[in-house]
Amino acid sequence: MSKKKVVALGGDGVGPEVVDATCYILENANFGLEVLKPPCGEAAMEQYHNAFPEEARQLCDTADAVLFGATGTTSGAILAYLRWIGDNYIGVRPIKYYPGAGSCLKDPSGIDFVILRENSEGMYSFIEGELSMLREKLPDLRSTRSGRSISDFGEGKFALRIASQHGTQRLAKYACEYTMWRKKNHYPGKLTCVTKSNVLPETDGLFQKIIEEETKKYPELSYEHYYADDTARRLLRYPTGFDVIVTENLFGDVLADEASELVGGLGLAASAGLGGKVAYFEPVHGSAPKYAGKNVANPTATILSAKLMLDYFEMREEADALERAVAAAYKDGKSLTYDQGGSATTTEFAQAVLREIK
Ligand code: IPM
Ligand code: MN
Repeated sequence: MSKKKVVALGGDGVGPEVVDATCYILENANFGLEVLKPPCGEAAMEQYHNAFPEEARQLCDTADAVLFGATGTTSGAILAYLRWIGDNYIGVRPIKYYPGAGSCLKDPSGIDFVILRENSEGMYSFIEGELSMLREKLPDLRSTRSGRSISDFGEGKFALRIASQHGTQRLAKYACEYTMWRKKNHYPGKLTCVTKSNVLPETDGLFQKIIEEETKKYPELSYEHYYADDTARRLLRYPTGFDVIVTENLFGDVLADEASELVGGLGLAASAGLGGKVAYFEPVHGSAPKYAGKNVANPTATILSAKLMLDYFEMREEADALERAVAAAYKDGKSLTYDQGGSATTTEFAQAVLREIK
């Protein structure tokens, strides 16, 4: 097998520190990856006056995968390129408890599910504007509930929420196949569709219908639907009752942050962006500028994102070794970062994980 080429882009804030810590593990564990680190983000501003220099962009185009840190205000263009321009429409956000991690629950044992987030449309259409513009173009548009027309709202703004047939269909297919794959690996094989189809009968009505229809092609898979508000509650009350959740972009964003607290918070929440030109892997957390440059951020979320990348490369042994090492570091508990009640630095945690691999 030829070496997989990984482009590591730290981005902003704590991004470069958690990505460096992860690359340190990937390189020293001898996983046989080629890891490239072109300048980008805040660090590139001085020299290139550009957070995403051409060199970095071109490398991304030729990479097998990109490992990304975080975006604050500076590196927005990197995420836009990886997620929206690259059309990585599948957001994979696993929520799994590793004993030793600081859950908000008394008993988090057995929590192990995945949120699949539609990553390209929904409330993230980035089509917003003045109500006056909408009024001019669509004078007859009325609320089906109150009967108010756009003019009745007066001045203000609107945002467009999109559930396209194609966009939902492709996610539905992935969600079913992914749940089946989990089932083959001894998970329950249950897909939970989360919407607000009660108040959004058009967009979420379509989303729910397409997911539901697709599941019928997979008789071995079980299916359920919950509303998003109900799901927010169920995540806290019945967290072991989920296997795979599939939902619209904004709901996925919010529920994934909420669910991360069940298993230790954003310091551990990993993600993958798949389905597009070049897959990318990033922690769910942001750039945390308050902690930047202090070597204190928890790199686990990025390390577990790299584990998802190894899964994606079908490097099963390496992926398992990395995950086992993270689990062992949490179980041991001597090298945890401040967010987990420890006092280890970012680097020290990475060193502890590497020791567990070797
Ligand atoms: C995430 C982030 C992004 C999102 C931001 C940075 C656009 O919060 O990946 O969850 O809202 O999707
Ligand atoms: Mn988010």
